[in-house]
Amino acid sequence: MSTPERDQTPTVAVRPLNFSDLPQVIAIERRAFPAPWSLSMFVLELSKPSEIALAARRGGRLVGYVICARYDEALHIMNIAVDPAHRRSGVASALLEEVIARGGVDGSYTLEVRVSNTGAISLYERYGFRGVGTRPRYYADNGEDAIIMWRAIGAPWEA
Ligand SMILES: CC(C)(COP(=O)(O)OP(=O)(O)OC[C@H]1O[C@@H](n2cnc3c(N)ncnc32)[C@H](O)[C@@H]1OP(=O)(O)O)[C@@H](O)C(=O)NCCC(=O)NCCS
Repeated sequence: MSTPERDQTPTVAVRPLNFSDLPQVIAIERRAFPAPWSLSMFVLELSKPSEIALAARRGGRLVGYVICARYDEALHIMNIAVDPAHRRSGVASALLEEVIARGGVDGSYTLEVRVSNTGAISLYERYGFRGVGTRPRYYADNGEDAIIMWRAIGAPWEA
């Protein structure tokens, strides 16, 4: 009789991000970015009622988060990051799918991403985002350019 395989990647549960999640968010943020957001930046964003702010949890731990602001012309994905130990296992995909479900498949979405961040660019392309231009020297820490990406209304995704 065969032994059942242990589940190495338990399900990701996505729910709204709370102020009480912020210590875990900051711990991931500092490992994810060369110029991490401060605690007060997260507090400010979470204070906006129109914001879509989500936490991904796996095995009882917060393993990723996304912050998406609603503007008149588009929803703007401001921040997304995943704990390094949980990458390439669908966490960011689960977060993006829930953002698009909550923001509406008929919404327009935009974001900026470092030109060197090819992993994130691949992720966004899977969800229908396309590069439409650059913001020269957008990132103050190293003067890197940003690619501006837009997801057209109703764009399909591959996931
Ligand atoms: C970018 C980031 C959020 C991706 O999170 P993730 O949970 O690992 O992403 P997923 O597992 O959902 O990836 C889905 C798909 O995106 C693409 N992708 C994601 N990370 C990738 C990488 N490092 N290299 C190449 N492709 C990548 C792949 O197509 C992947 O599918 P696959 O694993 O079946 O090949 C994560 O690497 C991270 O937190 N990076 C640091 C913070 C950051 O750069 N945020 C984005 C700022 S704009």
